[in-house]
Amino acid sequence: MHPPIRRIAISTGGGDAPGLNAVISSVVWAAANRGWECVGIRDGFNGILAPERYPQGGVELLTRDRVRGIAHLGGTILGTTNKGDPFHFPVRQADGSVSEVDRSGEILDYFKREGIDALVIAGGDGTLTIGHELHRRGLRVVGVPKTIDNDLDKTHTTFGFDTAVSFATECLDRLHSTAESHQRVMVVEVMGRYAGWIALHAGISGGAHAILMPEIPYDIEKVAAAIRERDAHGRLYSLVVVAEGARARQGERALLAEAEAGHAERLGGIGEQVARDLAGRTGKDARVVVLGHLLRGGSPTSFDRLAAKRFGTAAVRALDEGHSGVMVALSHPNVVYVPLTEVAGRMKAVPRDSDTLQTGRDLGICFGD
Ligand code: F6P
Repeated sequence: MHPPIRRIAISTGGGDAPGLNAVISSVVWAAANRGWECVGIRDGFNGILAPERYPQGGVELLTRDRVRGIAHLGGTILGTTNKGDPFHFPVRQADGSVSEVDRSGEILDYFKREGIDALVIAGGDGTLTIGHELHRRGLRVVGVPKTIDNDLDKTHTTFGFDTAVSFATECLDRLHSTAESHQRVMVVEVMGRYAGWIALHAGISGGAHAILMPEIPYDIEKVAAAIRERDAHGRLYSLVVVAEGARARQGERALLAEAEAGHAERLGGIGEQVARDLAGRTGKDARVVVLGHLLRGGSPTSFDRLAAKRFGTAAVRALDEGHSGVMVALSHPNVVYVPLTEVAGRMKAVPRDSDTLQTGRDLGICFGD
């Protein structure tokens, strides 16, 4: 028998993704329907660990009224951060350097003191690893898989991914005409960290002629040859989608910033390199469009909204049924619970035998290999 639940907390961590507000509101509604109270922690766990930053309170009561009308909005009303891991909390030292301190005990103390019985935590790999560690230290935790990158294992998809792919596809649709009018190569850099899901799905949907992704280190000469081949057939423009984590066979990943205490490295810049290399090898004009954080903005698509609402309510059901240390996941057509141990610290790359990848190859898209 598990002790009854009266009060739960919600935290949203890592990069924001469209659908987070739908998760928050559906958790609040499903909890309220069971007579439970919900509180939301500001900016991951910073609302508890750095309360001085929140004059209005680092933890707020989430009533039905507070979450009314937010499900279709992008972002997260709770705020989020990728610099607030309680197990590796960045603390500035007297000499100006930043070191990491384990402050997880303060979270557990807070939950005990405030009578919070469980935590619903929405996030990607890093955030769910935090959830897993808190569960191991005795907290009741259910995770919700969020990331535009779709790189979480054990769920068919994360929410946020469909919105990012839909927007990138629309951008590609718009770039065809301008690329064709100027007979240019347009290189479109998309996010995705070390996985090529966004590049692959948007590239195929938006009719790209080449897709470069981390899973397939590319030979730029192969891409240039594909563009020359198109030219030879009178198709004088080309669209190339490049995932931010892609790299040439003998090359390095392009970084905007190295990793530092409490913060992972920032990827970006590969689009510029690819455009420069392709212009040099084909003699064509090349331009770069970096979609970046635009992929994280805007309203969630209906797919992401529904997924977020299914995940949020399932997280509450999971707690009600006595589960802890699990993530709600999509295993078509159902939502299932998978142990956080099988998710934490893992990454789901595009498999080499993916039929979507094969679709691209059968359509004649160049992958640079
Ligand atoms: O994980 C989501 C994501 O948008 C990645 O695709 C990207 O590499 C990263 O976050 C960017 O993080 P930040 O917003 O800190 O620059």
